[in-house]
Formats: sequence, C-alpha cells, structure tokens
Amino acid sequence: MDFKLTEEHLMIRDAARDFAKSELLPGVIERDEKQEFPKEQIKKMGELGFLGMMVSPEYGGGGMDTVSYVLAMEEISKIDASASVVMSVNNSLVCWGLEKFGNEEQKQKYLTKLATGEALGAFCLSEPEAGSDATSQKTTAIEKDDHYVLNGTKNWITNGGTADYYLVIAQTHPEKKHKGINAFIVEKGWKGFEIGPKEQKLGIRGSDTHSLNFNDVKVPKENRIGEDGFGFKFAMKTLSGGRIGIAAQALGIAAGAYELAREYSKVRKAFGTEIMNHQAIAFKLADMHTSIEAARHLVMKAACDKDNGENYDLSGAMAKLFASQTAMDVTVEAVQVHGGNGYVKEYHVERLMRDAKITQIYEGTSEIQKIVISRSILRD
Ligand code: CAA
Repeated sequence: MDFKLTEEHLMIRDAARDFAKSELLPGVIERDEKQEFPKEQIKKMGELGFLGMMVSPEYGGGGMDTVSYVLAMEEISKIDASASVVMSVNNSLVCWGLEKFGNEEQKQKYLTKLATGEALGAFCLSEPEAGSDATSQKTTAIEKDDHYVLNGTKNWITNGGTADYYLVIAQTHPEKKHKGINAFIVEKGWKGFEIGPKEQKLGIRGSDTHSLNFNDVKVPKENRIGEDGFGFKFAMKTLSGGRIGIAAQALGIAAGAYELAREYSKVRKAFGTEIMNHQAIAFKLADMHTSIEAARHLVMKAACDKDNGENYDLSGAMAKLFASQTAMDVTVEAVQVHGGNGYVKEYHVERLMRDAKITQIYEGTSEIQKIVISRSILRD
C-alpha cells in the first residue's frame, strides 16, 4: 500500500488549485447571489482539459485516471462547488457513460465535443415521481419506424439549460419494468424538447438546474445507447462512478471550509489571544481535520478501485455517504469558528455550508447509499 501521490498527480492537483484560485474565486460570491452560471470559467475549464479528464486522447480527452480526476474535483470544489458539479456531471455521468457504452459513431459525433468542452452534457434520469425510486420511469420512448418518440418530464437536471447534449433515460417496454428502459442521446433544439424554468436553489446556485419537457420528440434509433433494454443498467453503472465524483466534491467543500476556519483562527482575537489558542476552537479544528482525512481516504480508495478494475459500487457509495456527512458537519463548524463573520457572505463559509447539503441528495441520497452499502455487505 502506497499513500504517496505521483509527481503527475501532484501537478494536476496544483494546476486545479491554481485555476480555482485565479479564475473561480473572483466573483464566486456574486455568481452565488445572482444564480449566475460560470460560463466563461467553464469554457476555460474545457480548454484546460478539466471537462473530459478520463476520456481517451483518441476522443479528445486527457486520458487520466480517476485519482487525477478526484484530486482536481477536490481543489475546484474548495472554491466553487457550482463549477465542480458541472465538471462532475460532464466527466462522470456523460463522458464516461458514452465512452464505455456508446458506439463508435456516437463517440465520434458527441464524445469528441463533450470531452474538450466544445459541448456540455446533462444526465437526465430523475423525474417528478422517480427520484430515489429510479426504476419508476414515466417518460416513454416508443419505437416508430426509424426513430423513437419521446414523451415526459425530467426534473432537477444539472446543466439543464446550458447543455448541448442530454443523456435521457426513458421506458420503452413498461411490461418489462426496469429491463424495458433505454438511454438516448438527445440534442438541444430538437422539435418538442422544451427547457423549463431555472430552479431557485439553496446552494450550488451558480449551477444551472431545470426541468425538461419532451413532447413527441423524434430521436433517431442510432441515438440509443447499447442494446434495447440496457438503459437502467447504463444509468446505475454510470451513477456508481458519478458518486465518486460527488464524494470528491463533498470532500473539497469540507476541506475548503476547514482551511478558511483554520486561517481565521490564527488572526481573530478574543479574550486577549488568537482564537486558535482556545481549546474550544483548537479541538473543533482537530475534529474537522480528522474527519476530512478519513473522507479523503475513502474517496481515494474508491478512485483506486475504479482505476484498478475492481468493483467500486460499495467503495463509491461509502465514500459519498461519509464525505457528504463530513461536508455538512465541517461546514457548520466552520461557520461556528467564524462566529458572526461566518454568517456573512464575504467570508465564504456560509456559502460552503449551503453548497454542502446537495451532496447528501444528488446522485443518490444518503439513504440510497445505505441501501447500496447494506445490500452489498449482506449479499454473501
Ligand atoms: N450496476 C449495475 N447494475 C445495477 C447496479 C449497478 N451499480 N445497481 C443496480 N443494478 C441493477 C440490478 O442488478 C437490477 O438488475 P437485474 O434485475 O437485471 O438484476 C436492476 O439494476 C434493478 O436493481 P434493484 O432491483 O436493486 O432496484 P431497486 O429499485 O430495488 O433499487 C436503487 C435500485 C439502487 C435504489 C436505484 O434505484 C438507485 O440508485 N436510486 C437512486 C437514483 C439516483 O442516484 N439518482 C440520481 C439522479 S442523477 C443526478 O443526481 C445527477 C445530477 O444532476 C448531479
């Protein structure tokens, strides 16, 4: 067992850290306030290769491993979780699924653009009545001649308004239940595809979340991913890797808040000394640091499992469950360490606290992670 990062990993981590500080930090408070998508910053992230990190260079990606990806996710998330969710969805839920299960034509047509950031992707599984209960898909995709006809509504879709290509999960054969579900690539602008109003959110307010409506949208048969009925497996396999990305996001939010609290404790004075000299504060920082380090080990273990070709359903779910709880606990304590200033926007920690909550909800709630974990450990 080797806990050391390679030179290459360190370079990627530092590049992401520099980018986050120089490009994402300026304006992050204003973007949060105005719910403004970081358009220019995401464009630059694409140019620097952050949007298709694990995609093979053959399709325009960086050909990097999952460890590199989670290192970059952590650094970006320390500063701007709205930008990192865009990165996570594009890398893990869109590019990964297309590269792994798409055919050559689909990869040439769509993946090459998504991997370079020329186009942005969205992953559309959730529905008004199918969030955690993902097999209950009401959106239908009915076969007709050389295409499918798509009807239904998707909810809470990250990159909903800004994406160019959408991976849409829909039911083709209801009698077969989850075995009748398919996944499709749908392009923005196709007739009958409407983007609903932007959601007003508690956190990750710079990210762009919408409902989507499909009214008799014609999807060519060649845009179905995999065999007929593969859609639910596609979604589950894709989400297993996505959860590692969100675990890294939660880790970054926690680490960002901790670093701010630690530095603040060195300069803020109370009762005649810097507050770090009060055990009440020093012990909080010790607890924060310890749980962040534990979360980091779980995230790295899941990333290494994926890179080593091991099953990562269990390790990814544990990483997400623990890292998201850590993000909540640490950000609340970071606000507390800052006292009154913690409640004020310019100190950043209140935003990180609001951003942390979504990591316990999307890509499978904490309760869903416990289903995945308990089924896995009780199976044998
Ligand atoms: N890999 C491959 N196949 C899997 C799988 C996995 N990780 N997990 C489940 N499956 C398969 C099962 O083997 C089963 O197939 P078979 O019948 O052929 O054996 C099939 O899927 C159905 O599985 P279950 O019987 O376990 O179904 P279930 O309904 O009891 O539970 C669940 C499944 C795990 C709860 C699943 O519904 C789930 O993960 N729900 C949460 C959905 C979710 O994460 N949504 C996030 C939305 S995306 C998002 O948030 C993106 C964003 O914008 C940031």
